[in-house]
Amino acid sequence: MNVAIATFVDLPEGDEDTPALIAELGALGHRAEAVRWDGPADWAAYDLVLVRSTWDYSTRLGEFLDWAARVPRLENTAEVLRWNTDKSYLRELGAAGVPVVPTLWDPAELPEWPDYVIKPAVSAGARDTARWSAEEAVPAAAHLARLRGEGRTVMVQPYLDAVDTAGETALVFFDGEFSHAVRKAPILTAGAGVQPMIADTKDEREQITPRAASKAELALAAAVLAAAPGNPLYARIDFIPGPDGDPVLLELELAEPSLFLHHAPGSAARLASAIVKRLG
Ligand SMILES: Nc1ncnc2c1ncn2[C@@H]1O[C@H](COP(=O)(O)OP(=O)(O)O)[C@@H](O)[C@H]1O
Ligand SMILES: [Mg+2]
Repeated sequence: MNVAIATFVDLPEGDEDTPALIAELGALGHRAEAVRWDGPADWAAYDLVLVRSTWDYSTRLGEFLDWAARVPRLENTAEVLRWNTDKSYLRELGAAGVPVVPTLWDPAELPEWPDYVIKPAVSAGARDTARWSAEEAVPAAAHLARLRGEGRTVMVQPYLDAVDTAGETALVFFDGEFSHAVRKAPILTAGAGVQPMIADTKDEREQITPRAASKAELALAAAVLAAAPGNPLYARIDFIPGPDGDPVLLELELAEPSLFLHHAPGSAARLASAIVKRLG
């Protein structure tokens, strides 16, 4: 089997998960290589194209989804990518009963909250995302106006301050099976304004450490996956504790999540097996 690991121009060899995945696929007798998604590759020549570090997609979403629709055998599928690359899916999951971070969608005015986050619905790596306090109404309004002026769907959320102590928990699933979890340190510093994209320095800025998932997180993750469309090959589900301490969904990542394989022994082999199993 011949696998392409789709990446972007700044990471020609793929992200930090890629070498371990290539090695594990190799151990199972399969060839894999990192390939730039917007390059001249012959996608039909691969038995499977795995969307991984395509981290410039958020600035060129239409082009990315058109590419996905053209690739004969893509995981996660073009349909799943279309659904998941706009955080509007959180509305659907919320309506299905999943506890999601409370969100104002495209508000005309700023909320009167002491501490809140403004972010675009299409984004990755905290690009164009910022945390604002009640005293920062002027720059916050400018941020909101800029995103609206760019025609983007804007999300405004209370800052879940449990992230400052508990951090964020990311649960990784392969073919519907839980693989491992990590803790991510908080990213949005008060008073820091709009963040530049962090994708190219992810691990450094995100400060990842291994963590055990709680029973509540595992149960909620199962509910999130059940409410999501398709049968994704990989999924990462990010939770932050809400005001009552129970996990709430920040993000369901089905497009190009870092999988933090090197924080979890055996996880690269589990992903490789899931890939091979899927191809039969
Ligand atoms: N409502 C929130 N409360 C606390 N932290 C948040 C909130 N929204 C975003 N963040 C922080 O910003 C980071 C990026 O936001 P996220 O919604 O995960 O978007 P993306 O990872 O797609 O850029 C999160 O990992 C988290 O640290
Ligand atoms: Mg995130």
